[in-house]
Amino acid sequence: MIRWYRVYDFSKHGNEPQRINSVRTIEIEGQKISLARTADGYYALDDKCPHAGARFGMGGYCEHGMLVCPVHRYKYDLQTGKGKQGDFINRYPTQVKSDGVYVGLTKKWWQFW
Ligand code: FES
Repeated sequence: MIRWYRVYDFSKHGNEPQRINSVRTIEIEGQKISLARTADGYYALDDKCPHAGARFGMGGYCEHGMLVCPVHRYKYDLQTGKGKQGDFINRYPTQVKSDGVYVGLTKKWWQFW
């Protein structure tokens, strides 16, 4: 079951709330997530780099469809989460609606109460 969280409200943040090819750390219910934006849209992924634990949102960026870690520049595919080194980071669905940008987190039914 997916619960959708609005992470940008266009009425408050404007229609361009994040620069193209930038990465920010957002927090949803205590979970840190990287929100990346390219010319193709928004991507939500784990914020912690599996290599040595850097936060992608602390200086990471997007380049040619890849999320680039700010520390050692390892790259992860924004579409799949697959790293060039064979490792992975989790991806989360995103939606752009008329009122904002949404990230979906999978929840078990008992987590809704
Ligand atoms: S910590 Fe991300 S590449 Fe090393």
